[in-house]
Amino acid sequence: MKVLIVGSGGREHAIATSVAKSSRVSKIFCAPGNAGIGQIAECVPIGAMEFDKIVAFAKEKAVDLVIVGMDDPLVGGLVDELEAAGIRTFGPRKNAAILEGSKAFSKDLMKKYNIPTAAYENFDNAEDALRYLETAKMPIVLKADGLALGKGVLICNTLEEAKAGVNEIMLDKKFGTAGNRMVVEEFMTGREVSVLSFVDGNTIQIMSSAQDHKRAKDGDEGLNTGGMGTFSPSPFYTEEVDAFCQKYIYQATVDAMKAEGREFKGVIFFGLMLTEDGPKVLEYNARFGDPEAQVVLPRMKNDIIDVVEACIDGTLDRIKVEFEDNAAVCVVLASDGYPVSYEKGFEITGLEAFEGKNDYFAFHAGTKSEGGKFVTNGGRVLGITAKGDDLKQARAKAYEATEWVSFANKYMRSDIGRAIDEA
Ligand code: AMP
Ligand code: GLY
Repeated sequence: MKVLIVGSGGREHAIATSVAKSSRVSKIFCAPGNAGIGQIAECVPIGAMEFDKIVAFAKEKAVDLVIVGMDDPLVGGLVDELEAAGIRTFGPRKNAAILEGSKAFSKDLMKKYNIPTAAYENFDNAEDALRYLETAKMPIVLKADGLALGKGVLICNTLEEAKAGVNEIMLDKKFGTAGNRMVVEEFMTGREVSVLSFVDGNTIQIMSSAQDHKRAKDGDEGLNTGGMGTFSPSPFYTEEVDAFCQKYIYQATVDAMKAEGREFKGVIFFGLMLTEDGPKVLEYNARFGDPEAQVVLPRMKNDIIDVVEACIDGTLDRIKVEFEDNAAVCVVLASDGYPVSYEKGFEITGLEAFEGKNDYFAFHAGTKSEGGKFVTNGGRVLGITAKGDDLKQARAKAYEATEWVSFANKYMRSDIGRAIDEA
């Protein structure tokens, strides 16, 4: 089977690594990919938003299956275009990817179907939002409605900050058209857990839980990033939490989407907060997390192609998605200055140390190859991942492996998985 993966980050490298393990796959393409993906797949210089070119390429190469990793092409309707051309594709159609593409939509869905989430109001003009804030309780959370690279959320401690936030989102359009609408939401506290799941329209099977570290600096200080590191499983995702989510959140979301005529096939990512009043949904994503995929997929026992095809065919109830009884930790090596400004183009050395090791992975994010060498090409450069018998061992191994790799301006958080010690 020939498989095309769409995307270029650490998540897509993790997906490609799983796909490469399948005995059913003879060839992997990736558009556009990166230097690490290029070691196991043929990367083609087609951007993830170049839908016509992706469809034409898939047809020309007689690709049997496309896996769309990234949010933008999903929300933009790439799956619909590939399907219209008769190409089997894993991922939600445009009318279902709205679950991630519009926060106002997802909040209304949760309200309508009684899925636990923070109290909120949606606004489509700044005036009404500002008037609402006058009597609202602080802190409060402002969210741009659309996709904003994970940055469209502002947590405001005072009325002044909140008013400035409304102006940034709705008037200055700091997040572009994502800010045409806005959600104003109750501030919640608790631990965050990411739960990814496979969905076939009717059946949902969750993957092993994970936790991300979104802030740039140790101690959860600094700016929000795409994610600086992850661990899986989360020790805070207990059987009790799972039972609650199974009862009130997971199937309820799949059923709600179906009832709305928006059948969801693909991956639903539940961003959960474990509050004093029980688990609540912070956000939905319509794809694997990055860097959650880097700690979840290496622990999956199934052939990923079997699972992906079951989602497409609506037969997920016939298989059982299973995970190894171990743990994984991913530490992101970034370019110093990320997420604001940073230099690129530095040589990366030491990656050969990962060759032939089953429990260590260097997932490439922002890298490219130049004259036979790997060079940095983004803010998040590599996701150094290790598996261990338990979280502490996996963490020690992952940090050990971060020392194998060198490049100028290498930056990482030193406290990924600190929460493990509090469990
Ligand atoms: P989101 O993109 O919606 O996941 O938001 C990004 C981050 O903002 C989350 O991971 C949380 O840390 C934080 N956040 C979002 N919504 C809330 C909320 N209602 N209360 C507290 N923190 C929140
Ligand atoms: N790591 C968070 C995300 O993928 O959205």
